[in-house]
Amino acid sequence: MIISNDEKLPIIKKKTDKLNPSITDFDKTFENNIRPKTFDSYIGQTNLKSMLKISIEAAKKRNVPLDHLLFYGPPGLGKTTLACVIANETSSEIKITSAPAIERPRDIIGILMSLKPGEVLFIDEIHRLNKVAEEILYPAMEDFFLDMNTGKGQSLKTLRVPIPKFTLIGATTKAGALSGPLRDRFGIVHRLEFYSKEELKQVIIRTAEILNISITDKGAEAVAMRSRGTPRIANRLVKRVSDYALVKSNGVVDEQIANKALDNLNIDKTGLDGTDRGLIKIIAEKYQGGPVGLETLAAALGEDSKTIEEVYEPYLLQEGYIQRTPRGRKITPYAVKMLNLNNSNVQQTLFE
Ligand code: ADE
Repeated sequence: MIISNDEKLPIIKKKTDKLNPSITDFDKTFENNIRPKTFDSYIGQTNLKSMLKISIEAAKKRNVPLDHLLFYGPPGLGKTTLACVIANETSSEIKITSAPAIERPRDIIGILMSLKPGEVLFIDEIHRLNKVAEEILYPAMEDFFLDMNTGKGQSLKTLRVPIPKFTLIGATTKAGALSGPLRDRFGIVHRLEFYSKEELKQVIIRTAEILNISITDKGAEAVAMRSRGTPRIANRLVKRVSDYALVKSNGVVDEQIANKALDNLNIDKTGLDGTDRGLIKIIAEKYQGGPVGLETLAAALGEDSKTIEEVYEPYLLQEGYIQRTPRGRKITPYAVKMLNLNNSNVQQTLFE
């Protein structure tokens, strides 16, 4: 797989990812170094992988590019990684961009015109693509043509310009925010799932090996327990616990060192961090357990509502700490128990 380094390709220049402020350019380089390149080295997402292997083989037999794919799910579960694996497994090049970087029609036209036959185009945060870019994309996805307007008024003509056959891989944390016509043009639409503790442990052991970090089985399990089902978080925590082990001990990450390092990072035994706990506690203490509207909650927490919805909530919903109701967010009796919330007001409203 070759990642194109096309200078004209709009890339995000910001230091941090808007929707996930904790991701820096450093993290992205670090992620690239440890990214698996093949299905064999890509851990987890078993159903999706076996489906993809079949689709890739069928496309090869038919001698056509792989159908366009849409991956959705919370951040950090490996959507970009999987796109790179697909490019590698189909011996294709890949261009990686993000919808907010595609501002003007000429940005998307430039990208589409620069594609090579069979190339993979990865557009992250595709739900943020503007209407004009989306409409340019439709005939490109469907028939591998660009409709270009020339002239004005009576002499206005639409030229159909052919482009090479390619595979678009779109990624989004919000499948519901995609327009119907765009969603319908993807042949394969698949949700990425949170990773099990065992899968995360394997990711951690693999990453530790690549980075030359000594970690015991139990040490890897302890990190996996607190990684919120997310390999990006697991990989980041491996580095942090390894730093701690190096400074405070002999450099080996065992269970005790891992737990001490993670306590030090304010990540509790269930993987919740300060913001997660803050969110639950605000619903409990300020709003008697809820329901409370997303915007009100965001203002109380001092966080962007999109970040709450797309980054924090999915794990809290999946683990059963909160519920979404038509009237807003509610915490569950499980959250009351796990966070030891001793508020009689809360208990009453939750069990009603
Ligand atoms: N690093 C990040 N995601 C991974 C995955 N799914 N498998 C292996 N290593 C990873």
